[in-house]
Amino acid sequence: MAHGFEAEIPLAFTEEVKAKTDHLYPLVEKFVPRLEWELNAPIIARINDLKAEKNAVILAHNYMTPDIFFAVGDFRGDSLALAREAAETDAQMIIQAGVHFMAETSKILAPEKTVLIPSLEAGCSLASSITGADVRLLKERYPGIPVVTYVNTTADVKAETDICCTSSNAVQVVEHICAEWGTDSVILIPDQYLAKNVAAMTDKKVITWAGSCEVHEQFTPEDIREMRAGNPGVIVLAHPECPPDVLAEADFAGSTAAMSGYVKDNQPKHVVLITECSMSDNVAAENPNVNFVRPCNLCPHMKRITLEGILRCLETGEHEVTVDEDIRIKALAAVQRMIDLPKLGSVSNFAVGKTGDVVAVEHR
Ligand code: 13P
Ligand code: SF4
Repeated sequence: MAHGFEAEIPLAFTEEVKAKTDHLYPLVEKFVPRLEWELNAPIIARINDLKAEKNAVILAHNYMTPDIFFAVGDFRGDSLALAREAAETDAQMIIQAGVHFMAETSKILAPEKTVLIPSLEAGCSLASSITGADVRLLKERYPGIPVVTYVNTTADVKAETDICCTSSNAVQVVEHICAEWGTDSVILIPDQYLAKNVAAMTDKKVITWAGSCEVHEQFTPEDIREMRAGNPGVIVLAHPECPPDVLAEADFAGSTAAMSGYVKDNQPKHVVLITECSMSDNVAAENPNVNFVRPCNLCPHMKRITLEGILRCLETGEHEVTVDEDIRIKALAAVQRMIDLPKLGSVSNFAVGKTGDVVAVEHR
C-alpha cells in the first residue's frame, strides 16, 4: 500500500492492532470484506492513537465511507450537527472528514483550534458556483432584502450574508429572517433547487442563484418511478438539493440527518435514499431490519477523504484550513445567528408532492 509514509505505520495486522480494532469491525462488516479490514486496521489503530496523543477529534459527515464514519469518526452527522460540534468540542484539533466548506465553518466557529482537512481538493459544486463579489452585486440589485446563504459556500460568501442555513433548517431560517427584517422577500443562495424546495414551504418571494449540487441534480422523477416499479412498496426519501420534480415523487424529504432519523423512527421494510451512496451504507449499518435499494450517486469531493489522508493529516499537520480574520468575524455573525436558532431535531422542513417556484434565478 503506497502511503508515502510507511515507516511510521505498523502495516501488519498484529495482535496489538487486532485488539485495538476488532470491536469496531461489526459496524462495517456488511460493507468492508475482512481482508480489506485487516489491511486498513493498522491505519485505523494508528489514527485512533494519534487522536488521543494530539487531543484531536474527527468530525465525520454522513457521506463518509463506513470505515471512516464508524471506525475513526468521533462525531457523525449532517453539516449543521458538525458545525455545532466544532463550536462545542474541547479538543485542540479538528480533522474534518467532509468537504472544504465544512472545515472553513469549523474554523469560523473555533478559531483557536487547529482545523485540518485530509484533501484540499474536497470541494463542492455549490461552493464554487458563487463568490463574495457576486453576493455584493446581488445586494446592490435587491437592496433591503435579507441574504440567506446555504452553508455549502466559502467563508467569503458567508461574510456577505445576513444568516446561514443548512438543509436541516432552511425554512425556519427564511421565516425567521423575513420576520426580523419585516420583508416578504428573501435572497436564498446558491442552490436553486434548495431555494425552490423552500419556496414550496413558505409564502415568501424567493430570489436565488443558478448553483446546484452536481450529485443531487442528476436524479430525475423517472428514476424514482422506475425504482417504485421495480421495488413495490419501497419508501423514497430525498435530499432537498434534488430538483423539485424529484421531491414531488418522494415520500419524505429532508437533510441527511432527517433522512437517517426517518429510517430509525419508522423502520420501513424497503427504503431508498435519493442522495450520496455512502449515506445508505451508514444508515443500513444501524438499521439491520431495513432493506436498502441502492441506486445512488457518488460525491467525488467527499470521496477524496480517505483513511490514508486522515492519517497523513495527523502525522504531518497537513492541510491546515485558515480564514482571514476580517472575513471570519463577518462570516461568524451569519453562522452564529443560525446556530443560535432553536434546535429542530431531525425533522423535515420540506413538503413532498408539492412544487414551489422562485421569483428569480440570478447568475453572473
Ligand atoms: P446536509 O446538511 O444534509 O448534511 O448536506 C450537506 C451536503 O453537502 C449535502 O450534499
Ligand atoms: Fe457539494 Fe453536492 Fe458533494 Fe454535498 S454532495 S458536498 S452539495 S457536491
